[in-house]
Amino acid sequence: MMDKKIKIYLDLNSIYNKANQTYNEDYMNLCFKFADIADLTIVFSETVEIDKLKKQLTNQRKNVTFFVCESIENINIEIPTPDIKAVFVISNIYTTVKKENNIIRFSLDFDSIENKYSDTSLVSLAKEKLIYNLFSNDFSFLINKDTKNECHFLQYIFQKNNIYSGEILDCCCGVGRHDALLSNYGYEILGIDISEKQIAAANKTNKNRLINYIVGDVRNYKLPHKQFNGAVCMWTSFNYFNKEEMRSFINNIYEGLKDEAIFILDTKNFIYPVQYKTYLKNFENETKKVCILVVKRVKNKMQTSKYIYSIYDKSTQKTNCFIDDELINIYTKTDVINIVQGKFSIIDEYGDYDASAFAEDKSNRMILVLKKYTR
Ligand SMILES: C[S@@+](CC[C@H](N)C(=O)[O-])C[C@H]1O[C@@H](n2cnc3c(N)ncnc32)[C@H](O)[C@@H]1O
Repeated sequence: MMDKKIKIYLDLNSIYNKANQTYNEDYMNLCFKFADIADLTIVFSETVEIDKLKKQLTNQRKNVTFFVCESIENINIEIPTPDIKAVFVISNIYTTVKKENNIIRFSLDFDSIENKYSDTSLVSLAKEKLIYNLFSNDFSFLINKDTKNECHFLQYIFQKNNIYSGEILDCCCGVGRHDALLSNYGYEILGIDISEKQIAAANKTNKNRLINYIVGDVRNYKLPHKQFNGAVCMWTSFNYFNKEEMRSFINNIYEGLKDEAIFILDTKNFIYPVQYKTYLKNFENETKKVCILVVKRVKNKMQTSKYIYSIYDKSTQKTNCFIDDELINIYTKTDVINIVQGKFSIIDEYGDYDASAFAEDKSNRMILVLKKYTR
């Protein structure tokens, strides 16, 4: 359903290639996606392509408005009213995110993000993410996930494998949103995360003698030998690792797990061919109203995402906006099988936290239950 309360202005001038008089195809596809979630105005200049382009766009979407103008900076953008939740202006002329009068301006520089980070480890990008650092105290609220349901699912898997107590390692634990419930179920938890801010928030919320945290890098943190009855790595966290780092991570966890222990690896299931995805999230609590515009591109076995947050503080009546870029590696089941070979076998696979069966062509998630090989 289209949410008329969101307005998006998309500048095509900034992606027009004068030399061959064309617009970037990927970007054009993206325009149509925005029309699913918002009132979309497409801004473009008088070019030779104009008629063809207009026809192409109106054939596919009836709810698109056009604005012909040399520069997006020259048009009068509607300022958000209490009725309109957010206004986004997207143009590749912006080098940083800009916010004035609660109008958020940013670019979709997917290629430059991919080029900047594809040769390096993506953990460095994770370390810079604002949601993990600046907003760690609001993390659980901002991500708006059904943590209780995820914990029930984890308990179900552990019990199915006769693990009713003992120590569980929460790899890349973030603010430890699963740990309070897991400890209520009778497990002792050790959470490890590379972000000091996330661990500080975890320690603040989960004060419990059965839960401990350390700031550490799961790719090489020296774990005590055969101490843990189980391990989890929730919510697409290992996707920051390249294949070599993933191997070190797996070897490391293997060392720390008892014989017969299980390791639950949870990642998004990326269904091909996916090029672009856009969606909006709106939610609120007693103090804040949040609107998040998410734009994702899947390409070259990587997913590049932009999260544009608009957070309205009910007491100060001010809106704070920020943007987080993210790049992650896509792992298929075959990739995981190849990496864990000789250390773990896959004993179960699920397509979501409701314990539904995994189907590569349609599941939302890929949750693999690995069992340690014993020698
Ligand atoms: C998507 S969040 C998931 C957090 C948590 N598992 C959850 O479900 O809420 C990914 C987390 O991985 C952490 N992380 C990334 N690379 C890491 C590494 N090499 N070692 C430990 N933590 C890492 C980040 O700091 C971040 O907290």
